[in-house]
Amino acid sequence: MNISIVGLGYVGAVSSACLADMGHRVWGVDINAEKVRIINEGRSPIVESGLESKISKGRQDGRLSATVDIGEALQESALCFVAVATPSRPNGQIDAAHLLRACHQIGAALAKLGRKQVVVIRSSVLPSVFDRCGEIFESTAPGLVDLCANPEFLREGTAIRDFEQPPFTVLGVNGAAAEATLRSLYSEQSAPIFVLKPRDALMVKYASNAFHALKVAFANEFAAVCQQADVDAEAVMNVFCNDTKLNISRRYLMPGFAFGGSCLPKDVRAILHAGKQSDLQLPLIAAILSSNEEVIERAFQKVRASGKKRLGLIGLSFKSNTDDLRESPLVELAERLLGKGYELSIYDPNVIVARLTGANKEYINSVIPHLSRLLVSSLDELRSAELLIVGHHFPGVDALLENTQASVIDLGRYETGKASEEKELVVGHGV
Ligand SMILES: NC(=O)c1ccc[n+]([C@@H]2O[C@H](COP(=O)([O-])OP(=O)(O)OC[C@H]3O[C@@H](n4cnc5c(N)ncnc54)[C@H](O)[C@@H]3O)[C@@H](O)[C@H]2O)c1
Repeated sequence: MNISIVGLGYVGAVSSACLADMGHRVWGVDINAEKVRIINEGRSPIVESGLESKISKGRQDGRLSATVDIGEALQESALCFVAVATPSRPNGQIDAAHLLRACHQIGAALAKLGRKQVVVIRSSVLPSVFDRCGEIFESTAPGLVDLCANPEFLREGTAIRDFEQPPFTVLGVNGAAAEATLRSLYSEQSAPIFVLKPRDALMVKYASNAFHALKVAFANEFAAVCQQADVDAEAVMNVFCNDTKLNISRRYLMPGFAFGGSCLPKDVRAILHAGKQSDLQLPLIAAILSSNEEVIERAFQKVRASGKKRLGLIGLSFKSNTDDLRESPLVELAERLLGKGYELSIYDPNVIVARLTGANKEYINSVIPHLSRLLVSSLDELRSAELLIVGHHFPGVDALLENTQASVIDLGRYETGKASEEKELVVGHGV
C-alpha cells in the first residue's frame, strides 16, 4: 500500500520505518528539513534501538522516502497517517496547533490534487480535537477525506517491538471501506484488532495512559505506606500482582456505581489514618474516597435534574447478592433523597428488615431508621413510581424496565447523548 506519514518524530519515524519494513511504500513528511535529510541518508533522527537499520533498509529497498513537501507525499498515497506532536499547554489543555495546521496542509494538498484519502489521526488527541480536524477537512477538501483514528501505544526505548507486537490495535472508523483498508495494513500482526467509532478509539489511548500513570503512582504511594510500617513493599506487590482474578484483571474496571460495603471504605480509611500518624502524604489513596463520593453525588444530581418526586429504588445492599447494607452507596443515595423530601419506595429481595442482625442492623437503624416502611416486597409495587433508579438488576427488573412508563436511571450504565431523553440513564456496580 502507498502510505504517507505526516510528522517524523518518535511515532512517525518508527511507523514509517516499520511499515516500509512490512513491504509498504512509505512517504514520510516533516516540516523539519533536517529530519527529512537524515532519514533520506538512511539514518535515524532519534535514538531508538533497531530504528536506524530499518530506516537504512527502507531507503536501500526504495520503500521509504522523506520529504518536506506534503503534496509530493500525497500524490501517490491511499492512506495518510498524521503523527505530529500534541503537547500540553500550561493549563493542561492539548496544544493542537501543529495538528490543526497539518490537517489544513493535507486538506489543501488533497483539494489541489483532487485525490480522495483515508486520513488517520495517529497523534494522541481528545475527541473534541478530532472533531476540529474533521471540520478542517470539510472546509478544505470537502468529500475527499475519510477521517479515522488509530491511536499509537508504543513506548520509547522499545518502540519497534511495541509497533510490531502491540497489546492490540484500535481502529476508529466510520465505515467499512476505511476499516478494510486499515485492517489490511495490520493483517500480518497477531494482536487483536478492535473496531470502534473514531472518538471512542481515541479515548482508549487516554484510558490506557491515565491508568498506567495511576498504577505507578499507586505502587509508589503504597510502597511508602509499607516502608513506614517497616514492611517489604516489593514482597507485598510481588504477591499482589500474582492475583490475576481480582487485582490484575478486568474486575472492578467496568464502569458502574460507587463501591461500598464493610471492607473497602474501612480499609482505605485505615491506610489513610496510618499515613496521617506518621505525617505521610497519601494524596492518591485519599482521593479514592472523595472520587467514590462524587459518583453518589452525580447520581443524586441526576435524580434532582429529572424533576420527578415519586421514586422507586431497585437495590439497597452494597451488592446484589447480599443483604449487607453497611456503607452501601445505595443506602447513602437513599438517605440523601429522603433528606431532600423525595417519596421513596425500595425493592431489594435480599433485604428483610426482620432478618437483619448485628452490625448490619445497627448500621441501617442509624441511617434509615424507618426502612421497613419504605421497603416493598415486589417489583409490581413500584409501578406508580415516576422515576426508577436501578442499583441492581434482580430477576424481573429488565422486564419491568421494558414496559414501564417511568423514567429510568440505571446506576450501572453510562450512556452517551445517544440515549433517548425520556429513558435517561446514568450510572452502578457494587464491589
Ligand atoms: N512519543 C511516544 O512515545 C508516543 C507514543 C504514543 C503516542 N504518541 C503521540 O504521538 C504524537 C506524536 O508524538 P511524537 O513523540 O512522535 O512527537 P515528536 O515531537 O517527536 O514529533 C512530531 C513531529 O511532527 C513534525 N511536525 C509538526 N508539524 C508538522 C506539520 N505541519 N507537517 C509535518 N510535520 C510536522 C515535527 O517537526 C516533529 O518532527 C503525539 O500526539 C504523542 O502524544 C507519542
